[in-house]
Amino acid sequence: MRAEAESADRPIYISGLAPDSKNRILEWQQSYSMGISLFDEQHKELIRLINDLYAASQKGWSYTRVALMRLMRYVLDYFQMNMIKEERIMERIGYPGYREHKREHVAFLKEVLVEVTYLQTNQMIDIKSFILFLRDWILSHVGICDKKLGLYLVRLKKEGNLNAFMQVDIEVSGN
Ligand SMILES: [Fe+2]
Repeated sequence: MRAEAESADRPIYISGLAPDSKNRILEWQQSYSMGISLFDEQHKELIRLINDLYAASQKGWSYTRVALMRLMRYVLDYFQMNMIKEERIMERIGYPGYREHKREHVAFLKEVLVEVTYLQTNQMIDIKSFILFLRDWILSHVGICDKKLGLYLVRLKKEGNLNAFMQVDIEVSGN
């Protein structure tokens, strides 16, 4: 996303979002649950950080910058703790949607790394596009792709086909 100049500490106007009374643009939905509490908690944290970023953007750039750094730091952990783990699991179980799912992870990380570079080199970020991009990640990746993987794992477990041989070191709840 192209860097753009934002002026000092004025709210950044972002259209197309409908924040709730607590100024949140995203809320965790039970329907997002993968049935894997570790991943669900990571997704909740990501949603919290995106909401924090939005709230900061309504205060101005200096707040936004702090929220961005926090979010980006988390995304790098999220890559290791969530995406890489999901990919290993998909490989082990021979998940049919593996390639497409991984492609989405790579595209997400790539975009975030571009923004990290902007931030590290003190360039302004197109915060509107970035927030919309992050929101879309939750709605379309977490809410659809990850959910699909979760349902697949739960089904394997119910059928007794998620065994130690696959070395899937996560707890699938089956809910
Ligand atoms: Fe994923």
